[in-house]
Amino acid sequence: MVRFELAAGVCVAAILAAAPAVAGPSSQAQPANWPKAASPKALSDAKTEAFVADLLKRMTVEEKVGQTIQADISYIKPEDLLTYPLGSLLAGGSSGPFGDERGDAVKWLEMVRAFRQAASERPGARVPLMFGIDAVHGHNNLVGATLFPHNIGLGAAHDPDLIRRIGRATALEVAATGADWTFGPTLAVPRDDRWGRTYEGYAESPDIARRYEGPMTEGLQGKLTNGHLANGHIAGSAKHFLADGGTEAGLDQGDYKGGERELIDIHLSGYREAIDAGVLTIMASFSSWNGEKHTGNKSLLTDVLRGPLGFTGFTVGDWNAHGQLPGCTKESCALAMNAGLDMYMAPDSWKGLYANTLAQVKSGEIPMARLDQAVTRILRVKVKTGLFEAQRPAAEGDFKVIASPEHRALAREAVRKSLVLLKNNGGVLPLKPGAKILVAGTAADDIGQASGGWTISWQGTGATNADFKQGQSIWAGLRDAATAAGGSAVLSPDGAFTDKPAVAVVVFGETPYAEFQGDVDNLDFAPEGPLALLRALKAKGVPTVAVFLSGRPLWTNPEINAADAFVAAWLPGTEGGGVADVLVAGPDGKPRHDFTGKLSFSWPKTAVQGPLNVGQAGYDPQFAYGYGLSYKQPAQVSQLAEVSGVLAGGVERFLADGRIIPPWSLSLKDASGAVRAGQSRQAATPGGGSRYAVVDGSAQESGRSLVFAGPGSVTLSGKPVSLTAQAQQGLALRVRYRLDAATSSTASFGLGAGAVDLGLAGASVGAWKTAEVALACLAKAGADLAAVSEPFKLSTTGAVSLTLEDIRLAPAQQPKGC
Ligand code: BGC
Ligand code: BGC
Repeated sequence: MVRFELAAGVCVAAILAAAPAVAGPSSQAQPANWPKAASPKALSDAKTEAFVADLLKRMTVEEKVGQTIQADISYIKPEDLLTYPLGSLLAGGSSGPFGDERGDAVKWLEMVRAFRQAASERPGARVPLMFGIDAVHGHNNLVGATLFPHNIGLGAAHDPDLIRRIGRATALEVAATGADWTFGPTLAVPRDDRWGRTYEGYAESPDIARRYEGPMTEGLQGKLTNGHLANGHIAGSAKHFLADGGTEAGLDQGDYKGGERELIDIHLSGYREAIDAGVLTIMASFSSWNGEKHTGNKSLLTDVLRGPLGFTGFTVGDWNAHGQLPGCTKESCALAMNAGLDMYMAPDSWKGLYANTLAQVKSGEIPMARLDQAVTRILRVKVKTGLFEAQRPAAEGDFKVIASPEHRALAREAVRKSLVLLKNNGGVLPLKPGAKILVAGTAADDIGQASGGWTISWQGTGATNADFKQGQSIWAGLRDAATAAGGSAVLSPDGAFTDKPAVAVVVFGETPYAEFQGDVDNLDFAPEGPLALLRALKAKGVPTVAVFLSGRPLWTNPEINAADAFVAAWLPGTEGGGVADVLVAGPDGKPRHDFTGKLSFSWPKTAVQGPLNVGQAGYDPQFAYGYGLSYKQPAQVSQLAEVSGVLAGGVERFLADGRIIPPWSLSLKDASGAVRAGQSRQAATPGGGSRYAVVDGSAQESGRSLVFAGPGSVTLSGKPVSLTAQAQQGLALRVRYRLDAATSSTASFGLGAGAVDLGLAGASVGAWKTAEVALACLAKAGADLAAVSEPFKLSTTGAVSLTLEDIRLAPAQQPKGC
């Protein structure tokens, strides 16, 4: 029996080897099909190579392995570097100096210097640390920095020279705080706008990234004229190699299913241009190609990148991405290095990874020659970055560049150029001098919302105007411009007024998100408040201008219909004044700046249109790639269809993918009082007896931990919605939770006045469990489904500690009576 199976196995294997075409879609690139980089800048001149070779000879194997590992500052102390010879550090999106997310520039520099100092005290070969950070729309981890529009807005600006200047300004602000390297630019070509990183890409077609990439690299890195970066320049990292924007259904870290041709024609994007401009590093993507993760794909990482593309800098992995390879963990992954990854990003896993990689080199599982090759590339880049130059730190501490008047003016110019005018019926724009303007919408005076994800924190939630004292909200810009033109403006977030205004500007849109937390099921802009506000203003005879903030095009036909003018403003950043520059006319009534932005992403006709990209068969957008009205070229937009296409009975999510889905907001209550947590990462009731915090669940930061010392409750609430249709479709309220400590108390869950037992008595500590109750049953238990303002409520009878991870309406899994 056994022999028969073996023989059959051999036979099948032989057939597969003879006819690879039947083996399913390939994830193996053929270098011969790939274009060559035109003139990859010689990062490898003789002088550098001799220096590197000599240094390498003097390094121990421990020191070499250390060079290939990067730790995050939240998980390492300077003194660790006395023992562990690591080559690089990063500050992740939520990492600040000495654990302070809002540490200022002085603190950042102190922190970098403390690590450098420790590294220099270790005996042995002296190799400077390289310090990386995500400066993806300006120095966005730093309070008070100039934040530029996210790439989606810059793509609409179609201005390569602007991109060069932004790269230069970003480099100066980063260098002032001691970092040497940014994880950018993102060269993703987002093909499905449901992806939570759509806004990190310039455009849905590769041509813009190709035009931008050279200038961006030059802005960040300068021209490498002295053999290394000049002071005030930093290394760049083109990311994420490859096809991060091509994953199926727009899933973050997902799979690009497709052929090599499309990989080259679309997703190679601006990588060739980056290499030609001398980009020093390239980050491998979390995602995969036909099932094979890029971080372990030798054909791309080595054969293509080092072959036709001629790249001689080093590759860095993404956040523990190596841990996702088959047979790997975040603390052990020879496969990645053997495939061509030169530096592991091992934020919290560096210690174990260091020990295991060292053992793998010693055992020969990672050939010594491969380690030497990786270290050679890293040292080469360190030379080119200027880290060995005594005068390198000269730009450090030059804090006056941070949010300098020049940088603020540049960001404001970028905002002006990124605005795309979708509609301007009746010439409501530009706003006339002397006009009385009502500025409404909760986003109008919120720099945090205007800046989106990757702002102070990873998700960008919780950033406020106070974090950007030099910045200006969209409201403040409108107020100043209106006053300068002889008129006036009033801020009224809910749109209420006593004096009837001549016109209202309503600012609204998506709230911040990053990476997978921003993935959505469809492109519907769901919150109903802004639409109601636009309609209410219209009903009162006030013309309206909608300023829409978003990280992707969204289906907004009802809002576009309800407004007289509609401006796609993307995620403009800290210089909201750029909006007023275009919207508000000068005292002479003439526009001070015209709209020049054109869509670099197609605007959808329905919310479920699926991938919608220029050049595709059946392309039928609401507003096409390249669309954008201006004062010079006006046009009327007629009434748009208001059928979103989202099927009734589609899943409604309240807490999903680590986010409390807007418009819902979380509150906590016990005998001492209530607290509204909003978007904050932690909160406690006035007496401190009930606590709430963002924690890791089955994915990073996907959980919401709740600790009740006594009877208490947690609710998600917002403006009332009707759930009667959902009840008729048989949907249930479903919650996924984990009991974190044994309890004799009970808990109930439900919505409005209806609740049922959660089932804690049968739950075991530490295990995930799902509870559900049909909406129809909740109605029987007393919930008014016609007007639900609390779609989720959980109450405890005493001390309970649990973590919630997912709350949604979904078809009942075990339909049963109630
Ligand atoms: C870090 C980010 C990182 C993310 C990856 C966060 O905790 O702050 O920089 O991109 O984790 O999942
Ligand atoms: C992101 C990268 C980022 C890195 C470091 C990852 O989760 O995918 O874009 O550079 O974290 O923060």
